[in-house]
Amino acid sequence: MIIANWKMNGSKELIKEWIDFVSHNIEFNQAKECILCPPTCYLDYTGTLIKQSYNNVKLGSQHCDSALSAPLTGGINSQMLEDAGCEFVIIGHSEQRIHLKESNQILSDKLKSSIEMNLNPIFCVGESLQQKEANQTNDILAQQLDTLPSNLLHECIIAYEPVWAIGTGKNADISYIEEIHTFIKEKLKNKSDSTNYISVVYGGSVNLVNCKEIYSSDKVDGLLIGGASLDSDTFTKIYNIS
Ligand code: PGA
Repeated sequence: MIIANWKMNGSKELIKEWIDFVSHNIEFNQAKECILCPPTCYLDYTGTLIKQSYNNVKLGSQHCDSALSAPLTGGINSQMLEDAGCEFVIIGHSEQRIHLKESNQILSDKLKSSIEMNLNPIFCVGESLQQKEANQTNDILAQQLDTLPSNLLHECIIAYEPVWAIGTGKNADISYIEEIHTFIKEKLKNKSDSTNYISVVYGGSVNLVNCKEIYSSDKVDGLLIGGASLDSDTFTKIYNIS
């Protein structure tokens, strides 16, 4: 799967151009889902455009609150996301963990509520530079993965995104990605009470130059792309060559 995470970027005009271009030009392969996560305010608009296009792009949200009903100004619940046509939701992105101070309990509640609404959570994990340098990567990842309820684990997609690689232009090299993905997959195997396959995707400065090498590893099940996903032509090329 190739996931475009637009973060706080875009406009109706850009979304329309992107969907027109990408849905016409990707060499679509059922086994390689193409997912667009626009800002929340454009979800409904994007969902409508997707339905009117070739339907080869799926809709994901960058945000979801855990409660289904609460007096929470600005809140968005998983039922609303499902109503807007979302199939995926990003949970636990490091930018939100840091800025919104999301605790493991909050993340676990978000996961449960999104799975109940049949959304596929893309659960992000990753170490900071400081943690990497202190040789704490595996401990940090293990703690983050422990947030996942073991009976729901097989419903999640895991995104390994080293914090130091996000938006910096410095992606992790392939041997490091493979080592960490192997660790994550092993940990999930021990923790899950199902034998269902759990996808682990990589994110962090993926671009046109490095995407093929990363995606072609048998340890990598997809790419989560921020900056390089905004341009429709670049994203289409990444999808097609990966
Ligand atoms: P980036 O962002 O591709 O711009 O590094 C990835 C992400 O944060 O999902």
